[in-house]
Amino acid sequence: MSQEPKRGHFAKEEGEIILREHEYDGIQEYDQKLPNWWLFTFYGAIVWFVIHWGVYYYTDFFRTPQERVKQEIVAVQQAKAAELEKTLATLDDSTLVHEWATKPEVVSAGEVTYLTNCTACHGADLSATISAGGNKVPLPGLPLNDHQWKFGSKPMDLFKLINVGSPPESSGHNGAKMQAWGQTLGPKKVAEVTAYLIAKLPEDFKDIPAK
Ligand code: HEC
Repeated sequence: MSQEPKRGHFAKEEGEIILREHEYDGIQEYDQKLPNWWLFTFYGAIVWFVIHWGVYYYTDFFRTPQERVKQEIVAVQQAKAAELEKTLATLDDSTLVHEWATKPEVVSAGEVTYLTNCTACHGADLSATISAGGNKVPLPGLPLNDHQWKFGSKPMDLFKLINVGSPPESSGHNGAKMQAWGQTLGPKKVAEVTAYLIAKLPEDFKDIPAK
């Protein structure tokens, strides 16, 4: 090379070639000014990163439909848990018998729920049978009018069983178990259907002091 290149830190003008001052193990480094188009692409990428990062993590803009569905499921579950907590705050044996089961509108709402969801296994008359050709054919559920309660005989025992289904330790009735109705119906409807059952049951079941 005929001419020694200029030494310095950075090239400041386009076309200028600088030999940088440092040298390691005999290795030296040139510097040239980067073209503006390259620099602006680089700075633009940094700005884009910041915007994208903010939008991605702090807004819903880039959520996939799957993630949105998951979010909604979580919201529904939280709403149900909150509703259950609210219902349970006032629900006990006494209120079920003396408040829920004495209100005609609650009982008839419970009847609609029962006829839609429960008759198939427990029968329209709670006997867990259906009449077919003069015979009583058993249905999969337990009779609810036989004065025998497998999981507790208090009104709240019924509410809890209907809400969360057969306990894990139950081997079921002929192998069949009760599903957790609270998940599909929600606690309010479960309380209504419990009120409907209580209203249909004999007086001794309701022998619970009023508050
Ligand atoms: C698919 C059939 C099926 C449906 C539908 C069903 N159950 Fe059941 N139910 C059962 C079975 C089976 C058992 C016994 C569970 C066990 O032994 O673990 C049971 C048990 C019960 C018991 C306890 C009975 C006892 O003698 O201790 C109650 C109360 C009850 N169900 C209420 C309901 C209500 C209310 C609904 C509607 C919201 C309903 N069931 C819908 C099958 C059903």
